[in-house]
Amino acid sequence: MSRDSTAKVLGVAFVLCLVCSILVSAAAVGLSSRQERNRLEEKRKNILLAAGIYEAGRPIDEQFGQIQPRIVDLQTGQFERGLDPANFDSRAAARDPQTSHRIAPQQDLAGIKTRSRYKDVYLVLGDEGRLQQLILPVHGKGLWSTMYGFISLANDLTTITGFSFYQHGETPGLGGEIDNPDWKKQWPGKKIFDASGQLRIEVLKGMVDRESENAVHQVDGLSGATLTARGVSHLLRYWMGKDGYQPFLATLQTEGLIQ
Ligand SMILES: Cc1cc2nc3c(=O)[nH]c(=O)nc-3n(C[C@H](O)[C@H](O)[C@H](O)COP(=O)(O)O)c2cc1C
Repeated sequence: MSRDSTAKVLGVAFVLCLVCSILVSAAAVGLSSRQERNRLEEKRKNILLAAGIYEAGRPIDEQFGQIQPRIVDLQTGQFERGLDPANFDSRAAARDPQTSHRIAPQQDLAGIKTRSRYKDVYLVLGDEGRLQQLILPVHGKGLWSTMYGFISLANDLTTITGFSFYQHGETPGLGGEIDNPDWKKQWPGKKIFDASGQLRIEVLKGMVDRESENAVHQVDGLSGATLTARGVSHLLRYWMGKDGYQPFLATLQTEGLIQ
């Protein structure tokens, strides 16, 4: 067979493709456990950051030791003991017809259409198992993207101790300012509910009047990014409302876990 024959060129190309695809597949399989470990570590870091207890330089596994992951059934507001938090994927559960909950359009403030019936929640426990902080995953539509974050509450279950997004596709410099530390630092101390239990938290269009008695429930808007800011307000209203975590928060109050 001549060196330049079509059959030989095709044969060499085929063998090259085969070798390359074996190498790529082997790398993908070989690295998948490491990727999984990195994903878990990143998620844990975001949870610690939201709670304001992340210490740079200290192993994340060690820091996460003070946090107890649990699964909650949002319908009943009770802990769901039949699901293992270590293997629970709430995005997959939102797509699975067995565990997906379709949100009625009039209730769908977060613009997400469906959510998982079950959610992973994270308890920061202090002495004698008392709840110090509660960290809850939240998500909802911004202008361009679904924004995913964690909100952390003090043990009165209404005072915010931290709030941060770890994934979104809003425009840098506009909606992307939800990551700006100066904007984020307004959240700790704000109260989600008022004394009568009404859901009051909101991001304003414009600045908060610091003298106003409503200021404790309000955060400054983002100039040039009103639509993203409105998305943040709405997603919090959804997740902290009756179709979101409210039944669970009521259960925590009555079961005395927070005392
Ligand atoms: C290229 C481009 C990107 C934009 N990105 C965002 C964004 O990420 N979030 C947002 O709320 N508005 C974004 N806007 C602006 C919105 O279209 C809208 O004008 C704005 O939300 C209104 O906010 P304002 O009332 O504070 O000006 C973008 C506009 C342009 C032209």
